[in-house]
Amino acid sequence: MVDKWLENIKKCKSSTNLDDIRIKILGKNGELTNMFADMKNIPNENKKEFAKNLNEQKINITKAIEGRKISLIKQETKRKLKSSAIDVSKYNMPPDIGALHPITSTMNQIINYFTSLNYEVIDGPLIEDDFHNFEALNLPTYHPARDMQDTFYFNDNKLLRTHTSPVQIRTMLTQKPPIRMIAPGKVFRRDFDITHTPMFNQVEGLVVQDEGHISFANLKHTMQEFLINMFGDVDIRFRPSFFPFTEPSAEVDISCPFCQQKGCQICSKTGWLEVLGCGVVDQNVFEKVALKNCSGFAFGLGVERFAMLLHKIPDLRTLFQSDVRLLRQFR
Ligand code: DAH
Repeated sequence: MVDKWLENIKKCKSSTNLDDIRIKILGKNGELTNMFADMKNIPNENKKEFAKNLNEQKINITKAIEGRKISLIKQETKRKLKSSAIDVSKYNMPPDIGALHPITSTMNQIINYFTSLNYEVIDGPLIEDDFHNFEALNLPTYHPARDMQDTFYFNDNKLLRTHTSPVQIRTMLTQKPPIRMIAPGKVFRRDFDITHTPMFNQVEGLVVQDEGHISFANLKHTMQEFLINMFGDVDIRFRPSFFPFTEPSAEVDISCPFCQQKGCQICSKTGWLEVLGCGVVDQNVFEKVALKNCSGFAFGLGVERFAMLLHKIPDLRTLFQSDVRLLRQFR
């Protein structure tokens, strides 16, 4: 019986015909379906074997039908397209298709990478206060590192956030560890020249645990995997640095993908490009948010810089000029 069924399936020439065959075998009243009804006449000790055998046949037949169906549909589609009277290639005015701005697509690429590792995406306010933007990040009022941030201040202790790091603080104040988050968004600084704009985008990252111990090695591995995912086969270098909210801190460079480290204008002839800052969360920060016995790492990066490196855009300002000729290249 099975051989006859398989033969019929193989010989079948159209998907409608194949459907008839399927109903004839597997339908409500199909030949194989009816064989299941014979079960009641089989002695108890043989029932299991009998059912197993029928199920195997059913699986084989179903697979054969599915396989045949795919190849028949392919053949039929080919035939249909050949005989179709409309030549779609003759339509020569395609609609003007939009494109994602390179900042958006780069931001999406970064977010997709970290969400695939189960990082949570957290939003924070653009208008911050002194506590979240500075104080809780171990930058007290008298701290010289505050000079690194040229800040837009409002009255009443409010300011435009100068980095996405305050979202670390907001998260640690509202969530219990383990925390694994990124905070993408706009930041603002009183800075405007060829390589700086008063508004730009950052992505912050934070991982905190109250069990076990998160070390610099965990941070290093995470950053290496991330950068290789973004930039491909590049060398990665960690340089000791200083950020008030991490200790130890590092800045991370990738080997210049434009000149294979021979030295070019983009890497200022150094062969290396700085891409992010990171470090092990300073215990003073945990104290500010009243977290005890925790360890963690954090990182922060500029999205415009990533977009420029990924798409070989030489001038930062082109990203902010809303020139449709730039966008057309990303269709
Ligand atoms: N907030 C820093 C900046 O704007 C970037 C940064 C550096 C963030 C190190 C971090 C970090 O979380 O660990 O320059």
